Amino acid sequence: MRRTLTELQRMKGQTPIVMVTAYDATLARLVDASVDAILVGDSLGMVVQGRDSTVPVTLDEMVYHTRMVARGSEQALLVGDLPFMSYQPSVELALLSAGRLLKEGHAQAVKLEGGEAVVPAVRALVAAGVPVVGHLGLTPQSINVFGGFGKRGKSDTEARRLLDDAKALEAAGLGMLVLENIPHALAEEVTGALAIPTIGIGAGPHCDGQVQVLHDLVGLIPEFTPRHAQRLTDAGEQIRGAVSTYAEQVRKGTFLSR
Ligand code: KIV
Repeated sequence: MRRTLTELQRMKGQTPIVMVTAYDATLARLVDASVDAILVGDSLGMVVQGRDSTVPVTLDEMVYHTRMVARGSEQALLVGDLPFMSYQPSVELALLSAGRLLKEGHAQAVKLEGGEAVVPAVRALVAAGVPVVGHLGLTPQSINVFGGFGKRGKSDTEARRLLDDAKALEAAGLGMLVLENIPHALAEEVTGALAIPTIGIGAGPHCDGQVQVLHDLVGLIPEFTPRHAQRLTDAGEQIRGAVSTYAEQVRKGTFLSR
């Protein structure tokens, strides 16, 4: 039986919530038992597809990856990202896009980026029975407005707006909120102001939980680790080493396959 967003909400103030990304059945199988939630993030555009932003990711791709992760996991709450322009144009489109992630991708909840502007979509989704996770701070789908992946919410004005956005989203029925790349003190303030859990990435230790991109966490992309990522092992180097040993053995004629 999978965890539900309601169960994760009850963890606020009791137990830190653990969330990680996965994009396919193999890696979902490896992380499922250790985490509370799996996010099929549109970060897959960068870490799986090799693009330089999440902007080009399509809803069809998100449905495809979410379905694979659903097949490989059975315990963790499954959250699917709504990609850029699958919810911004209208509330109706948000409902249709979220419907596909739940019906075809088997997600239990959807995540979308933004504050006040997405409040009508959040309200409609929740009314239609779709649990929604929000995302404030560095919202990568707006990279072309921000012009970079740096910290957000550093000025008083931006911090105030982020706090107001968080409260407006919660009032609209949001179930959980990701805070990406914002000052630790601001994340602490938002966490204290909301009854729903906050999940931080590059937002310090005071959130109700943490989320990491799996590829960053295990070092699958050896050349690059974002500043907010914690690399806990070197899976990328291990894969390189294993394939190099394999190649050497095949070339020498010493590789034994059964
Ligand atoms: O797309 C993603 O993986 C995300 C996380 C970084 C929170 O949104």
